[in-house]
Amino acid sequence: MNEFERYTVTAALPYANGPVHIGHLAGVYIPADIYVRYLRLKGKDVIYVCGSDEHGVPITIKARQENVSPQAIVDRYHTMIKQSFEAFGISFDIYSRTTSPIHYQTASEFFLTLYRKNEFIEKESEQYYDEEAQQFLADRYIMGTCPHCGNERAYGDQCEKCGTSLNATDLINPRSVLSGKPPVLRKTSHWYLPLDKHESWLKQWILEEHKEWKTNVYGQCKSWLDLGLQPRAVSRDLDWGIPVPLENAKGKVLYVWFDAPIGYISATKELTPNWEKYWKDPKTRIIHFIGKDNIVFHCIVFPAMLKAHGEFILPDNVPANEFLNLEGDKISTSRNWAVWLHEYLNDFPGKEDVLRYVLTANAPETKDNDFTWKDFQTRNNSELVAILGNFVNRAMVLTHKYFDGIVPHPAQVGSYENEIKEQLKTLRFSIEDNIENFRFREALKEYMNIARLGNKYLADTEPWAIIKTNPEYVKTILYYSLQIAANLAIMGEPFLPFSSKKLANMLHLPQSNWNLAGDINILPVGHQLGKSELLFEKIEDAAIEKQLEKLHQSNQSNIPASSIVEPQKPHVSYDDFSKMDIRVGTIIEAEKVAKTKKLLKLTIDTGIDKRTVVSGIAEYFEPENIIGRQVCILVNLEPREIKGIVSHGMILMAEDRDGRLEFVVPSAPVTSGSQVK
Ligand code: MF3
Ligand code: ZN
Repeated sequence: MNEFERYTVTAALPYANGPVHIGHLAGVYIPADIYVRYLRLKGKDVIYVCGSDEHGVPITIKARQENVSPQAIVDRYHTMIKQSFEAFGISFDIYSRTTSPIHYQTASEFFLTLYRKNEFIEKESEQYYDEEAQQFLADRYIMGTCPHCGNERAYGDQCEKCGTSLNATDLINPRSVLSGKPPVLRKTSHWYLPLDKHESWLKQWILEEHKEWKTNVYGQCKSWLDLGLQPRAVSRDLDWGIPVPLENAKGKVLYVWFDAPIGYISATKELTPNWEKYWKDPKTRIIHFIGKDNIVFHCIVFPAMLKAHGEFILPDNVPANEFLNLEGDKISTSRNWAVWLHEYLNDFPGKEDVLRYVLTANAPETKDNDFTWKDFQTRNNSELVAILGNFVNRAMVLTHKYFDGIVPHPAQVGSYENEIKEQLKTLRFSIEDNIENFRFREALKEYMNIARLGNKYLADTEPWAIIKTNPEYVKTILYYSLQIAANLAIMGEPFLPFSSKKLANMLHLPQSNWNLAGDINILPVGHQLGKSELLFEKIEDAAIEKQLEKLHQSNQSNIPASSIVEPQKPHVSYDDFSKMDIRVGTIIEAEKVAKTKKLLKLTIDTGIDKRTVVSGIAEYFEPENIIGRQVCILVNLEPREIKGIVSHGMILMAEDRDGRLEFVVPSAPVTSGSQVK
């Protein structure tokens, strides 16, 4: 990486149509932040640019739902998103927005340059139009059935279920999101970027010259390029967006994916009058951090735009991540299945680094990954507290106890100390190599190995046991331990900026500098340490249970009224269905399960037997009101232990759109044990 003079690091501009969640942080903003903080510590010239993506149909749809202007929507979420990022220490040099005047100007000029250079083709085509709403139905204004997977809620630009990118006219049974009616076709004219004309250099550039890109990125590019590129429209018939800067273009705006990446350039302009060198000098290394759904735009479309423009350099790498799931399920805004950053900040004040840590340790770098609250707790308690915090605390407390908090002189250096010296260097280079190659999980693991090394050293040498008999060696042990702690403060800054700062303060360590990393003389003999404080604290079960409850609860009750019925699941065979043994039974006892909000313990007469079933219906039914009621019960569901009670079956419930539950029952009483088929 030495051939570059400076770095332009971008993180995908989040849509300002909702708050940001852990998936955003894990996929894009934390990895980019680690990378940038590392480069800054090395003294590199680097800028980290981002901002809100404020155009596009999801924003106007949201505005319609709430009966406010699109500007009101983006103002609200831009502020919120910006604050969340700041709170987590995401160290953007600028967080701009695509409704800023400077962006309007930059994007318009960019379009005009391409237009004047004849880099577009203008084409008339037939597009869907809603006669009732009197509007063209671009992108997400149209829904229908995906021709690839049968998902009935695919959008005009993409099916979110199978990930295929679509044209509106590919959809089966298209309908307007505005009126719900089938649309008609109308002629309209648009400007297209002829990607086919760019195909051959793109192939050379990506497939030959960038074989080092991550396999997920390279693979996606290759399959696009192998399929052959098509011209892509860069304008839309919409009233929200940057107007196409031409005379004969009334009612037309730039496509959001045309203007948004130019937002990186606009943000840089806003940051510095010297913006040009960050985008035009070949000695600059541009890196785009994105999620996997953005790959084609950053690796193919935007580079084609930059090339067509002529003055810009191309990105050197595009380290895209896969997706983060939550408790085994896809993160979903509409189902409120997410951990929202602003809520986390409220629930866990001062624990920003804990989330940074867990999301890095679990980052979806090579495959989709899962965030669970249990894992969050374990990583905090058995890694941050037990390994990192514990080591630092012991080194600090012992030095204060034995030597008044003054770094002692290491008189007796033996093979163990030399070994530590070597290991620290090795770990430093491994962390560097991993960060420079976008393997942040591995880098973090190696960072924690520094703390492990320190713990092992203390456990092996036991300074507390030999302070009376061999105080000279204790001086050496603590000297080395404190140097390890200083290394943790320096090398931890990219990953855990708040805790590293706290640690640096405790050590009275002046300005962090990566050049010192791996060294064993960071703190001089005689140096006075500051007060010892705890870096991390244990997270109790109650806090985790609260989060899980909140997650499951909001998932049921906060479903927006606008959401439509769940699409049909894939077919099952009659055989599969007939394996389920569903009976009509009668509730004969019911009581709340202690210390839970949602659970009832029921005794059911199934006709076969009387058995215990635990059911999550306590918020909807009082135990005394349901005794004697008939219910349908799946009796051959594998027994499951729930809160220490074994449940032998499952009561069938109908769940309303607003999350309300009702029993599924025969329309007139039947004998217990009757089969449902
Ligand atoms: N808003 C897009 C998304 O969230 C990302 C835009 S990245 C940019 O998927 F390059 F276009 F800015
Ligand atoms: Zn699909």
